Amino acid sequence: MSFRNCTITLLVATVLIAGGHSMAQTVHTDIIELPSPSWTAPMPLDRALEARRSIRSYARTPLTRAEIATLLWAAQGVTGPGGERTAPSAGGLYPLEVFLVAGRVDDLPEGVYRYDPASHDLIRTAEKAPRAALAHAALGQDCVRTAPAVIVLAAVPSRTTSKYRSRSLRYVHIESGAAAENVYLAATSLGLGTVLVGAFEDADVKNVLNLEKEVEPLILLPVGRPR
Ligand SMILES: Cc1cc2nc3c(=O)[nH]c(=O)nc-3n(C[C@H](O)[C@H](O)[C@H](O)COP(=O)(O)O)c2cc1C
Repeated sequence: MSFRNCTITLLVATVLIAGGHSMAQTVHTDIIELPSPSWTAPMPLDRALEARRSIRSYARTPLTRAEIATLLWAAQGVTGPGGERTAPSAGGLYPLEVFLVAGRVDDLPEGVYRYDPASHDLIRTAEKAPRAALAHAALGQDCVRTAPAVIVLAAVPSRTTSKYRSRSLRYVHIESGAAAENVYLAATSLGLGTVLVGAFEDADVKNVLNLEKEVEPLILLPVGRPR
């Protein structure tokens, strides 16, 4: 596997002053470099717009790491010198976070990952891909369980609240819709299928993905080859 350096051991020099004792904690993090976004047979935008459909039934064939890289870049990739991204963001405050639940992706170990737009890397946060639990959290929608991978669009709303106050949640939701459409169009042009899943229990999705308190899940996008 062409991982840059898969395992970085961070020695967190956390010195806990507890009863006069000090303690150091070791945390293992997998960082996986993604290939640049690529299309083997690019589709004109007008055809992608016309062909875009919600696809809920997928072949068992794995996705490739290149396909995943292209989809994640479409969602939130950095495209400008000031950190501008593929999707618009109110005030350029970028509240969105993108996660990947990878079940069957060639050259990518199963797990949950956070996408880092700045470095175009994946950071593994869990070693299993809890697609069945995620499907349960999504009111039993089977496309979430059977997809080789699920892209999760989430947000840290406070990044936008400080500037936009009462309009901030509206803006966060608009941004997640724009990012989701980018994923739909990228998937279509790659010959893949996806569907925007908005029906789920927020708390259950947070729990299944072990999201931090301030991270709110907004959209699930199961992805696979149309069956
Ligand atoms: C906000 C929103 C929430 C949605 N939630 C779900 C969902 O939970 N499950 C699902 O199968 N489709 C969901 N969809 C997809 C719609 O059902 C789909 O876009 C619609 O039927 C039109 O079909 P098309 O996308 O193929 O054009 C959602 C779409 C939107 C915009």
